[in-house]
Amino acid sequence: MTVGKIHSDSGEVLIQISPLIHFSKFEPGSDQDIARKPLHVKAIPCQVNKQTELSPLHDFMGKLLQPEVLESLKDYVRWQARWREGFATGSMTFEQALETAPGQAPVSINLDVTTACNYRCDHCVDMDILNKNINYDHELLKDSLTHLVDNGLRSVIIIGGGEPTAYKGFEDVVRHLKSMGAQIGVVTNGSMMKKIEAVADVLQERDWVRLSLDSGTNETFRAMHKPGSKKCTLEWICDHIPAIKKLNPRFMIGFSFIIVWKDCETNDTQIIENIDEMVAAAKLAKQHDFDYISYKPFLTRSEQNNAEIVGIDKQQESVASTMHRIRDAIVQAKQLEDGKFSVIESTNLRVLENGTYMDYSKQPHNCHMQYFRQVLSPLGVFNCPVYRHVPQALLGGKHAYATQNGLQATQRNTLKLIETFDATEECKDVTCLYNHANWFIEDLINHPEKLDSLAPSFDRGDYFL
Ligand SMILES: C[S@@+](CC[C@H](N)C(=O)[O-])C[C@H]1O[C@@H](n2cnc3c(N)ncnc32)[C@H](O)[C@@H]1O
Ligand code: SF4
Repeated sequence: MTVGKIHSDSGEVLIQISPLIHFSKFEPGSDQDIARKPLHVKAIPCQVNKQTELSPLHDFMGKLLQPEVLESLKDYVRWQARWREGFATGSMTFEQALETAPGQAPVSINLDVTTACNYRCDHCVDMDILNKNINYDHELLKDSLTHLVDNGLRSVIIIGGGEPTAYKGFEDVVRHLKSMGAQIGVVTNGSMMKKIEAVADVLQERDWVRLSLDSGTNETFRAMHKPGSKKCTLEWICDHIPAIKKLNPRFMIGFSFIIVWKDCETNDTQIIENIDEMVAAAKLAKQHDFDYISYKPFLTRSEQNNAEIVGIDKQQESVASTMHRIRDAIVQAKQLEDGKFSVIESTNLRVLENGTYMDYSKQPHNCHMQYFRQVLSPLGVFNCPVYRHVPQALLGGKHAYATQNGLQATQRNTLKLIETFDATEECKDVTCLYNHANWFIEDLINHPEKLDSLAPSFDRGDYFL
């Protein structure tokens, strides 16, 4: 099995990635492959039933129907319908189709500002890419963000990869994005809350900051996260929140809890169970003025293709008792809810529990959401957070969006990848929260006449995808 490589813009090999990274059926798509046999010819019946478990947060189709982004969606659908028609009638090559490709930026990105991290979390799903000392040119990163916003980018989740607040240009990036009106979410390990305090003044109602804390006692917190500094305790981190809330109460601050159970294994080590601390964590969050606690299941990397998948073996007998304990804890945590504090269960936790997770793993062949939501990282531009740093999911270099031409070229690469990356196969183990949106778009492409009566939804003012 070959080892995957990430290349710099100039072509040198930056890092080699674990041999586990291997797409089962994926062959890098050349234009010739697309011309011979594009993926869409494998069309399967549409499954557009609304997935009722989706919280408004994860109703990505509803978000794409908002008035300010609906035209981008329609342009994309019309282009896909024209290309499919052209292919079916033999009147258009893929290259010709690309000449009229829509030129918008993704609506939303995950932005990894650095791969550096000051923790060594035993459960980290991105362990392979941490501390690679691969960096952006800061001014080119800002140019990329400017071009992206100028071409339709509406929201940015600043996350990792590494720890966003460890990036020395963190404050500058946040202020730059806010000066252009983008919505911002920040996911942080909480070790440098001064950096969050420093940007609190520019954050607005729809922006948010989420701290990944995963524990209810300091002992478990330190054992799970292994922070570099001794002063970094769970209480010390939480103690920063009331002051930030006083500075600016408008944006939401969340306590994130990744639920880890017996037998969870990743990075070749067994990791620390924390189910028994779910309720204590909720109490701590409430006491310290967090707006919410969110519970999500542990993810691991697929041995098949390195995709992030829910780390539970559904065949195991212990699943039912594990789910029982999680449910009990959530019921207790919910008793703490009031007008100022809420308890959020992630959609993939809910569907795991009620058994409907299989509905989220039947993807159409073409994943259209790649066009609307991507990952920008110092390792390059990737098609989906699930494949952050997987070489075959690479759409361009780290500065691919730094120029207008680069932006057009990268979105054309995206259209090529949509025709060659078979989501039905590659994402068959992924509880993909974009599943409904992908099927909905697939249906529109097959029936473009529906666009005429497709009315904008109400404006939620939420563009996070
Ligand atoms: C990789 S971290 C990077 C950002 C930042 N350093 C932090 O810790 O929040 C991004 C998010 O992934 C979550 N995460 C890490 N490993 C995970 C796993 N195995 N399963 C589910 N979520 C995980 C973290 O809790 C965090 O919320
Ligand atoms: S189908 Fe889902 S998991 Fe697969 S690439 Fe698309 S959005 Fe990501």
